[in-house]
Amino acid sequence: MITVKNLVKKYADFKALDGLSFEVNENEIFGLLGPNGAGKTTLIHILATLLKPTEGGAIVNGFDVLHNATKVRQSIGVVFQAPSSDDILTGYENLKIHALLYGIPRKLREKRISEVLELVGLEDRKNDQVKKYSGGMRRRLEIARGLLHHPKVFFLDEPTLGLDPKSRETMWKYIKKMVREEKVTIILTTHYMEEADMLCDRIGFITNGKIIALDSPSKLKQEIGGDVVKITFNDRIPLDKDFTKFDFVHKVEQKENSVIIYMEKVNSNLHMLIKDLDGVQTIEYKKPTLNDVFLKLSGDYLSGDSPEGGFMQRYAQYKKS
Ligand SMILES: Nc1ncnc2c1ncn2[C@@H]1O[C@H](COP(=O)(O)OP(=O)(O)O)[C@@H](O)[C@H]1O
Ligand SMILES: [Mg+2]
Repeated sequence: MITVKNLVKKYADFKALDGLSFEVNENEIFGLLGPNGAGKTTLIHILATLLKPTEGGAIVNGFDVLHNATKVRQSIGVVFQAPSSDDILTGYENLKIHALLYGIPRKLREKRISEVLELVGLEDRKNDQVKKYSGGMRRRLEIARGLLHHPKVFFLDEPTLGLDPKSRETMWKYIKKMVREEKVTIILTTHYMEEADMLCDRIGFITNGKIIALDSPSKLKQEIGGDVVKITFNDRIPLDKDFTKFDFVHKVEQKENSVIIYMEKVNSNLHMLIKDLDGVQTIEYKKPTLNDVFLKLSGDYLSGDSPEGGFMQRYAQYKKS
């Protein structure tokens, strides 16, 4: 549905996008994940034909963003980072104006407006002025608006930025519903790892204008090497213990008086690992999250310097006997 090839975008001498290439399949939710300033919005703007690439190009729904911009625009729906609905008008009026702008025939118009209002759960609020909507409702109205003309591809730039946790979950529900019912392909940007994990079929990690990893959330997490257990000993690591003898253990590292064990299924296998182990001070474990993937890619995984980088779950505390 989307092909991006060697895409470069420079702002003066600064490279905001530094040679991106990837593809997005039909009907998938593709996440662009990365810190502020990574280049996510720039990329979306190029795919939506609002910015021109400096080098390289992209095809959206079979149309070239440079040479066939009108066709690309007809193929896409967009919700940008900054809100753009008119807030003295009602939700319904916003949708109607947009339907007129897009030339949706009168016969189909009312039916389609009801459909999209229903899809985002705003039917009973359609006659309220948008200024009375919450942040989450505004975003949902913008989704409804972007869907009016049946786009094949939908861009969502930071759809839950600034929303409270409950509104974020509501938003996730509607995003999933929209893929199911409207059969759109979604590209969404976020810097919330758990959001990407929850919603995306595949994720491209982007930093400094480059894609540094691209895969499904579960594969990305697997690449970390499984669950991680850290056993810290009171004095020193016992020399006679060989943790690699267990077939559920992938890798063992030693650090001062701790061993770090990468393994399968910590919940069911931990007891075997620690059976007959003496001189244990603490045992901690964690299951990798996308945040760990990101930290590992950026070299900070298990450094313990950042709150998310260290171990989060303390399994047990052993006292010196
Ligand atoms: N119009 C612009 N002029 C100059 N630099 C820009 C412009 N827009 C974005 N940038 C810079 O390009 C980089 C990528 O920005 P952006 O695409 O907005 O990142 P993200 O959406 O991932 O936070 C940032 O360093 C940003 O400051
Ligand atoms: Mg952005």
